[in-house]
Amino acid sequence: MAENNNQGKTALITGATSGIGYELAKLFAKDGYDLVLVARAADRLQAVSEEFKQQYDVEVHTIEKDLFTPGAARQVYDETKKSGLTIDALVNNAGQGEYGRFIDTDLDREIDLVHLDIISVISLTKFYLKEMADRNEGKILQLASNLSKAPTPLMSVYAASKAFVLSFTEALIEEMKESEVIITALLPGPTDTDFFHKAGAEVSVTYKEMPIYDPAEVAKAGYKGLMSGKSKVIPGAMNKAEAAMGTVLPDGAVTAMMSKQMKPSEKEGGREAISHPASAAERASMHSREGDLRGHEGHVHEEQGA
Ligand SMILES: NC(=O)c1ccc[n+]([C@@H]2O[C@H](COP(=O)([O-])OP(=O)(O)OC[C@H]3O[C@@H](n4cnc5c(N)ncnc54)[C@H](OP(=O)(O)O)[C@@H]3O)[C@@H](O)[C@H]2O)c1
Repeated sequence: MAENNNQGKTALITGATSGIGYELAKLFAKDGYDLVLVARAADRLQAVSEEFKQQYDVEVHTIEKDLFTPGAARQVYDETKKSGLTIDALVNNAGQGEYGRFIDTDLDREIDLVHLDIISVISLTKFYLKEMADRNEGKILQLASNLSKAPTPLMSVYAASKAFVLSFTEALIEEMKESEVIITALLPGPTDTDFFHKAGAEVSVTYKEMPIYDPAEVAKAGYKGLMSGKSKVIPGAMNKAEAAMGTVLPDGAVTAMMSKQMKPSEKEGGREAISHPASAAERASMHSREGDLRGHEGHVHEEQGA
């Protein structure tokens, strides 16, 4: 059952079927928000929708949409209009990365990422923020990253896209500061979701050797920050310390630090790479050229289940 009275309010969350987005959707539902869940996999959307309806007694709408596709964000907006929905909270969460040297990675994949990580974020923010501004109320949570302020070798396009999200969000916060609309940027550190597997980044020092955060904890910090009107949330002590270091170190030193964290791990053991249906399908859908870092994918083992 929902715990708070937000009856009649609706939150739209992109990428709500796994990881941080799923945990965020749970928090909105727990607080009584009806939900609009956006993702590609229809079976997961259906399963998550049933789970939230039963557990929290809220209304759940699902929109099956591939935000890699130009124009998809507008179709999401049009579908909510057609259903007569007012979006009280927008969470631009869906996002992906790609691991590898830029000269080896696939350009089509990177253009897809720009559509997902940047164009859909600008578009959905444009459509719903205008309405929120007219009503003088509403909340937007933007998924930036600890990489938003750190140029990141081997994830160059992804980190640059998250730099965009943070810069864009901070500018909008200033533009909207006289209004009652709340906009919050969430900057998670490495988090234990499907992200690394979809990006093919399980070989990195970050994934294999460093502590990674629990998506439920990251979502809780983001949700709390949004509800209390914070402009920026950096969850976790280590993540906060790295962010603080980033403000005092010269840019070149930050990039060199990220290079060490992203290079393929040479340590025996470490966190095991997992391949499950969603990430296996993601990798299979790409036609990337084999770069020299890709050889490490031989270590990936198969695991059944979502
Ligand atoms: N995990 C980390 O270390 C980390 C750190 C900092 C920031 N972030 C950011 O946090 C956000 C959430 O990522 P996550 O770690 O929770 O990843 P995740 O577990 O892989 O979840 C991604 C979600 O987005 C959806 N999605 C992926 N591609 C999509 C597309 N083309 N169109 C529509 N939906 C799509 C997925 O569902 P379908 O596959 O069914 O579409 C899934 O629901 C992202 O913006 C990511 O960049 C993650």
